[in-house]
Amino acid sequence: MSTTFDLDGQPVPFQPGDTVIAAATRAGHTIPHLCWDPRLGPSGACRLCTVEVNGRPAAACTTRALAGLRVACQTEPLQQRRRQLLQMMFVEGNHFCPSCEKSGGCALQSAAYAAGMTGPQWEEFYPQRAVDASHPALWLDTNRCILCKLCVRASTELDGKGVFAIGGHGIHTHLIVHSPSGRLADSAIAATDEAAQICPVGAILPKRRGFAVPIGERPQDTP
Ligand code: SF4
Ligand code: SF4
Ligand code: FES
Repeated sequence: MSTTFDLDGQPVPFQPGDTVIAAATRAGHTIPHLCWDPRLGPSGACRLCTVEVNGRPAAACTTRALAGLRVACQTEPLQQRRRQLLQMMFVEGNHFCPSCEKSGGCALQSAAYAAGMTGPQWEEFYPQRAVDASHPALWLDTNRCILCKLCVRASTELDGKGVFAIGGHGIHTHLIVHSPSGRLADSAIAATDEAAQICPVGAILPKRRGFAVPIGERPQDTP
């Protein structure tokens, strides 16, 4: 049985068990998101998918679709909140897009363009984080990590390895590699793992493939 909820004035059909974002995406709508992947259980880590459900803010990736819900996504107050959230993600790490291999194919960069984000209004944190280049096939650069937990969930739910975890609190929250040394080379990860390929930003990258696609032909170069 399919029934509908309202998204910005449009009826959206859903199936039992759907989240708002799953049903909306299937119906061809775009709700901004960074930590949602339909193959994985919901996490609610990034909050970029926040919409208004019956007038109250809620994450579209953790909210079950129900008949008759009134969901607002494309309102100016929500867009403003998204721009602020994205600005926080940029200042919390070290993001230098012109020199980043992920540029043009990065979900954070793309979301910032789509939301109309310009310069951050807060001071940059410039945290000091070491790059882990120990693995023969992968880079781990947590300067660009937005703590979306996609690699954590993919490694556990899809690869069955549990290579990554999130540790610490508040501003000290960070990505942890499960290995005796804490380095990627000593973990069970392989370059073919889903966890090695799912990072939406340039934090987990394959080696020897940087800048392989010319500017103008990268996934997000076209409007
Ligand atoms: Fe820019 Fe994305 Fe690279 Fe960060 S990860 S520097 S936002 S391209
Ligand atoms: Fe998300 Fe990438 Fe950080 Fe993993 S390394 S938590 S996938 S941003
Ligand atoms: Fe919903 Fe990240 S996509 S909280």
